[in-house]
Amino acid sequence: MNNFEFCNPVKVVFGKGSIARLSTLIPEGSKILMLYGGGSIKKNGIHTQVSEALKDYPLTEFSGIEANPHYDTCMKAVELARRKKTDFLLAVGGGSVIDATKFIAAAICFKGDPWDIPAKNAPVERAMPLGVVLTLSATGSETNERAVISNISEGQKLGFATPAVFPAFAVMDPEATYSLPAAQVANGVVDSFIHVIEQYLTYPVDAKVQDAFAESLMRIIREEGPRALKDPLDYNIRANLMWAATNALNGWIGQGVPQDWSSHRIGYPLTVQFGLAHAETLAVILPGVMQYMQKEKQEKILRLGAAVFDITEGSTKERVEKTIDAVELFFRDMGLKTRLHEYGIKETDLDALTSPIDRLGWKLSEKGHIGTKAAREILLLRL
Ligand code: NZQ
Ligand code: ZN
Repeated sequence: MNNFEFCNPVKVVFGKGSIARLSTLIPEGSKILMLYGGGSIKKNGIHTQVSEALKDYPLTEFSGIEANPHYDTCMKAVELARRKKTDFLLAVGGGSVIDATKFIAAAICFKGDPWDIPAKNAPVERAMPLGVVLTLSATGSETNERAVISNISEGQKLGFATPAVFPAFAVMDPEATYSLPAAQVANGVVDSFIHVIEQYLTYPVDAKVQDAFAESLMRIIREEGPRALKDPLDYNIRANLMWAATNALNGWIGQGVPQDWSSHRIGYPLTVQFGLAHAETLAVILPGVMQYMQKEKQEKILRLGAAVFDITEGSTKERVEKTIDAVELFFRDMGLKTRLHEYGIKETDLDALTSPIDRLGWKLSEKGHIGTKAAREILLLRL
């Protein structure tokens, strides 16, 4: 196991009725800016629950944060927060609203051009405190220090990570996810599964706790995911998926182990250039990364096959192939497409999709050997 230092300071308040606990979590008298997306929280009653819980606070609202949140939208919220002398930000939504709120929290306190935070890795010394009411389990953003922002005029989607944007708390009521359309449930299941994979499917370093934890999370996500589609109002299924997605990316399983993240990074241009949802990019790319790196990842692919998909029979080569097929089939069972042509993407599109990787100086995978050329080969496998 590799050395590590780790602290996750996010307080989790989990369960039915937990939104009512908000007033115990935000310092009295705080001037709150509540941020949300395109309006789902107005239809499903979450907006009413939050407003009721915070009726004694001065509250301003900022709505319209889009999926894959835009830098320009975030900067409008920064301006509003400054004008209203906000001192606490409350994100009510999924990964996009949470990520936007993290960026806004950092941008408010940042001297200089805030786009430098993701684009130039500019250090973030301070950020405004923020809290989260989660409405979609997928990204794990509710308990981590990461965010991904899209800059439409630059044609870029970029991430950043800094402890300054850890939320102070995450309120997680599984009932808040009942109103999700099936496609968003499926996206969340696939995204959280692949978060585990990106931290697990590398090479072994004898990290027994992390490996066993990761395998149990994948098994749970794989079992509960299809059940959530069949039985959308089952509380325990939603609760288990929500907690699994949080644990998939709250830092615990990734300590002391090599990590990959190439499927995520190769996927960003697919969102920017072709509008695929985040999880849709991953469902296409991950089986290609597994195939392309099957030698380097062989030991972990075999473990994954046995522990999560019960693949124990056949030669090494057969078990590796069966496992890659089983992963792709799981995504298809969840209703996601797994091939580029299904999105109308052709071989002639691949150069534009992969050229950002070298331009940004990214050396992807746990081996650091995937640049533009290798990413193109991976996408070629996925046409
Ligand atoms: O905008 P509204 O109207 O709220 O609708 C949203 C949005 O259209 C809807 N939704 C959310 N909760 C709902 C609901 N609809 C009905 N009922 C509810 N309870 O769902 C749609 C998608 O929401 P979004 O927040 O975009 O989804 P997700 O949570 O998958 O977040 C995706 C974003 O997170 C980033 C992705 O790149 C993408 O930008 N990621 C962030 C990570 C992190 N911070 O650690 C890691 C991830 O790998 C990922 O990159
Ligand atoms: Zn993801």
